[in-house]
Amino acid sequence: MNKSFYVTTPIYYVNDMPHIGTAYTTVAADALARYHRLKGEEVFFLTGTDEHGQHVARAAERHGVSPQEWADRMVVHFTEVWKRLNISNDYFIRTTDPKHVEVARKFIQLLYDKGDIYLDTYEGWYCVPDESFWLPSQLVDGKCPQCGREVEMVQEENYFFRLSAYADRLLSHIESHPEFVQPEIRRNEVISFIKQGLTDQSISRKTITWGIPLPFDESQVMYVWFDALLNYISAIDYGLDEERFRRTWPADVHLIGKEILRFHAIVWPAMLMAADLPLPRQVFAHGWLTVEGEKMSKSKGNVISPHELIDEYGVDAYRYYFLREFSFGYDGNFSRENMTGRYNADLANSLGNMVSRVLAMVERYRGGTVPEPSDREEEPDVALRESAARVFPEVDRSMERLAFNEALQAIWNFLAAINRYVDETAAWDLAKDPTLSRRLDTVLYNMVEAVRLTALLVVPFLPATGEGIWRRLGFADPIHAHHLPEAAAWGLFPPGQRVSKGEPLFPRKK
Ligand code: MSP
Repeated sequence: MNKSFYVTTPIYYVNDMPHIGTAYTTVAADALARYHRLKGEEVFFLTGTDEHGQHVARAAERHGVSPQEWADRMVVHFTEVWKRLNISNDYFIRTTDPKHVEVARKFIQLLYDKGDIYLDTYEGWYCVPDESFWLPSQLVDGKCPQCGREVEMVQEENYFFRLSAYADRLLSHIESHPEFVQPEIRRNEVISFIKQGLTDQSISRKTITWGIPLPFDESQVMYVWFDALLNYISAIDYGLDEERFRRTWPADVHLIGKEILRFHAIVWPAMLMAADLPLPRQVFAHGWLTVEGEKMSKSKGNVISPHELIDEYGVDAYRYYFLREFSFGYDGNFSRENMTGRYNADLANSLGNMVSRVLAMVERYRGGTVPEPSDREEEPDVALRESAARVFPEVDRSMERLAFNEALQAIWNFLAAINRYVDETAAWDLAKDPTLSRRLDTVLYNMVEAVRLTALLVVPFLPATGEGIWRRLGFADPIHAHHLPEAAAWGLFPPGQRVSKGEPLFPRKK
């Protein structure tokens, strides 16, 4: 049995509604998961919700319900928006699931038994919205260095994890595995942070009740980050079903936002080392999105719900825009004008019009039946075929680096080649001359074949569009039954198959 390709998103706090920032990671993870499935790989794609902690408990309190009721109410907003965005996660984990609680307790007990956990006094600052501990020296103007909000003084007896004991091993792992933390700028950040020296991490809270009680001291609950990170192994039955766990772990990539890098690239790997578990292959931290140049925040009232944009542009245009417009490792700025521009140029025009034009010509000149091409190739045919041969390897190299925008750029370069072919071969002129009928057959066939490849190439990013093109091409079997690279070979479209133009894929926007 092959190991699955295992990709995760952060589990999102249920104190608030999902927005375009949370959806950014999830859409990227989905495109990656679908891409690996398209390559015929076994995939396990995990997302979920982080339901414990003070921040969630306070949100519940403000609404006058218990934290569990609050989590049950909020989780629906996440599962619904992911469904709408066509997110193909294989599992959805909630940290209040009994299975997660059981695994988390087993794990912490193991570390306790090994002597990696000890009791001490914590005195320092705590940022509730970020659920993070800060030393006085780390504060900026007395505020949380991460989010700039107020911090609270905490002084209590806590259990500590011997993070410092793993600093050397961690550093040498990161230095000898350049792919482990990406992009490079984040890798350097982690290296220099470790080099400054790691202090042991408080991993329990005494004055909080909304959390997982420690098995060795029920008067304390697990620190929400310690609890949350364990979702990546509880979801795949660590300590419960060894065979299943081994088939999936280690994760191939944890996708995260850059603000939670230290938890994922320092604390988490050290926890895994302490439990003698292999480390994930990669932690990839992407940048942050701003909205019309500003940080999204409730107080500014500029938080955008994915639903709002989906209503306006459609699901696939939503997915396309966020993956195409931004370079995944870096910050980006969302603007409506920009999104409309991309929609019209890339989707309505390059993709939608091209597919309609090609299929309309087959309907007009051959009654909808795709003709048999002749053996004689002319120059534009060679150029199109060569462009088709280049695109899949290019997409593959880009996806290996999680450069979604470059993968889409490569596909759109191919679409430009198809549009060029349509213009150069001018089927409408060939159709006027009966002696050129065989040439017209070849040209129509090549265009349809290129559209077939287009469907396969776009389907991980724009699933409904890929499927829609596939149906227009008259295939009876689902597009997901076909895998790359085999299905990308030129000339697999069966002559004689009937196609239909159908409705426009992306009607133009004003
Ligand atoms: N619960 C923790 C994560 C635990 S993982 C073991 C958490 N949750 S969160 O709800 O705050 O979600 C944070 C994640 O949402 C970020 O890491 C990022 O993936 C995504 N984003 C939230 N706002 C974002 C932007 N403005 N831009 C891009 N992504 C952002 O932290």
